Amino acid sequence: MVQQNQKPRIFSGIQPTGRLHLGNYTGALSQWVVNQDQNDGIYCIVDLHALTALHSRTIVPIVEQVRQTAALLVACGLDPERSSIFVQSHISAHAELAWILNCLTPVGWLERMTQYKAKAAQPASATAGLLTYPVLQAADILLYRANFVPVGEDQKQHIELTAELARRFNRLFGETFVIPRPLIRTAGARIMGLDDPSIKMSKSLAEDRKSHVIGLSDPPDLIRRTIMEAVTDSGFETRFERASPGVKNLLTIFEALSQRPRPEIESHFAGKSYQVLKGEVADLVIAVLRPIRERYLNLVDDPGWLDQMLRHGAQKVSPIAISTLDQVKKLTGIERPQPGLQTIARSEGVC
Ligand code: TYM
Repeated sequence: MVQQNQKPRIFSGIQPTGRLHLGNYTGALSQWVVNQDQNDGIYCIVDLHALTALHSRTIVPIVEQVRQTAALLVACGLDPERSSIFVQSHISAHAELAWILNCLTPVGWLERMTQYKAKAAQPASATAGLLTYPVLQAADILLYRANFVPVGEDQKQHIELTAELARRFNRLFGETFVIPRPLIRTAGARIMGLDDPSIKMSKSLAEDRKSHVIGLSDPPDLIRRTIMEAVTDSGFETRFERASPGVKNLLTIFEALSQRPRPEIESHFAGKSYQVLKGEVADLVIAVLRPIRERYLNLVDDPGWLDQMLRHGAQKVSPIAISTLDQVKKLTGIERPQPGLQTIARSEGVC
């Protein structure tokens, strides 16, 4: 529940893997940047979650990808003064709360997660980290007592699991956690691959498949080429509910970025060829992404500023995380050590 006179707390996260793409923007980032004065927004670059791909990583240091992601978040319009942007591994409370929640999570709940089932199909990926990934995500959200979590459709199940875990903890130990609710846009919550509209546009596929994604910092000529090559069909259907998956995906991108109502979009494209549709989608995507790319190219050249901004973000939000974790430790019977105790234990060779 939101207390009177208090701004609603919004929390969300993004992995720092590879290029952020148009689906990340329409599903999540475009929601993060609106109403920054009306909300208390906390946004986390989840580098610990990214380690679930550690086994397959061609070593690009995650820290570099964290900076690129931070630069893109600011370039998309997140204001580090009005919202907080920080890195998950900079606040150790995330990993600590995740462990405590792991001890309350039935394995069956985790095995049912569709993202786990899809990724665990490759045996090398099926690590304990991948299985417990949603518990770390629950810890992210619950630490900050977030009311709302703006995400794309693929994260809905994880937010529901978070709410379930919060209710379970509250039943066992008394009212502690706020029950979070997902915020999912009606348009653009699930953008599909341009080369294959049967699968979700995804960062991990971008490395091997050149025309799968539109990266948020892609140059205009690459954006146009990728859209003009997008898979469609041989017909003329441009109504959302009758169009083939590839055409529907292009219409959805247009809808999410133009924010025009569906009937207006359908009459605008009625009787026009897919070439015209693709051309107009490309114009719109380029117009929206051009200023983002320009800001990004300036910011990414300044790692000192980015590091300082991320440190500032962690300093702002860590008191919230520490106070929640302290409360949880008390309730579960493990107290935080008194100041100095850890140092004494270390010097005596105890830990
Ligand atoms: P990630 O990094 O995969 O994606 C970041 C956000 O982008 C959305 N998204 C999409 N939306 C529409 N169409 C697509 N094709 C598309 N692909 C991605 C995602 O739904 C997400 O909102 N588990 C999360 C990161 C996370 C998190 C959290 C999110 C960790 N802790 C706490 C919310 C709250 C993830 O992997 O997102």
